[in-house]
Amino acid sequence: MSYKRIVFATDGSESAERARRVAASIAKATRGTVLVGHAYESPIEGKEILEQAVGACEADGVKVRGELLDGTPAAAIVEFADVNDADVIVIGAAGLSGSETFQIGNIAGRIARQAPCDVLLVRGTAVVEGDSPYPRILVATDGSVTADRAARKGYDLAGKLGASVQLVFVGHPKTGDLVLKDTAATFGEDVDTSTRILKGDPADKIVEVAEQEAFPLVIVGNKGMTGARRFLLGSVPQKVSEYAPCDVLIARTVVQAVAEIDKGEGGIILVAGDKVAAYKDDKGKLHTVSAKCTHMGCTVKWNGADGTWDCPCHGSRFSASGEVVQGPAARPLPAVEMA
Ligand code: FES
Repeated sequence: MSYKRIVFATDGSESAERARRVAASIAKATRGTVLVGHAYESPIEGKEILEQAVGACEADGVKVRGELLDGTPAAAIVEFADVNDADVIVIGAAGLSGSETFQIGNIAGRIARQAPCDVLLVRGTAVVEGDSPYPRILVATDGSVTADRAARKGYDLAGKLGASVQLVFVGHPKTGDLVLKDTAATFGEDVDTSTRILKGDPADKIVEVAEQEAFPLVIVGNKGMTGARRFLLGSVPQKVSEYAPCDVLIARTVVQAVAEIDKGEGGIILVAGDKVAAYKDDKGKLHTVSAKCTHMGCTVKWNGADGTWDCPCHGSRFSASGEVVQGPAARPLPAVEMA
């Protein structure tokens, strides 16, 4: 799947401008649309910031639409991405926060944790020459389902941008050999690929390779999200996001196959193109309700710690079978009949 709906979150800073150029390059390569979102403090200044970003995208020859957003920046951007069914949010890692660097607790970090789609954190090390900000991409994999999805997205992006891919596996060499061969054969047919197996702490090693070989982009899966308390990232993507010296794309596993959902857990599945919240009870029986929050339509997420469907936009919560546990939503999630 290509990135067709690219949300670019701006605050008018230098970091945001670097992110905008990356968003525009990707949109050009995928023939996608940049959706510029700005959560304003002052409406007059906000309008100027938005118009500037939209104008710059138009000057780059990219399809673009802009919207001023109400509310706190992280929640407003997450909601904007959700209602627009975005494929990826592109954001300056240091922007929207006032802090110098990306930290998992700042606004960019909150977006990375709560986004309903992939998130590209732009640090500005990528030189945007012509249309390709990333001539080489480092893709980390451990052979898991989530990592496979990250690899597929990495290869798709590499194909569109004309980039080469280095696949890296951290762990046992025999397993690594199998995983890397399989991943390259499955997803990387037309892309120039090299592979590497390393030993040690996965996040440390990924950051080390990115630094030593000056990769402009690292792609990791958001492993650890499912079943984790609320929407926390797994420890590897979190550490890589914080410490990699380059841009980081966190490929998010949003949609799952029913077989991947464990007893007592929930996950979002696709049924005839619609997102459905599926909960497997302790006996293995599947309970399915619409994944669209009845407040304003954001996609609910499974909260494994509390066994509820939680909405990241305004905090509504629903029981595993869809009843309202906490507003502002007033109506339950409608049941979905499975054929
Ligand atoms: S859309 Fe507002 S709480 Fe879900």
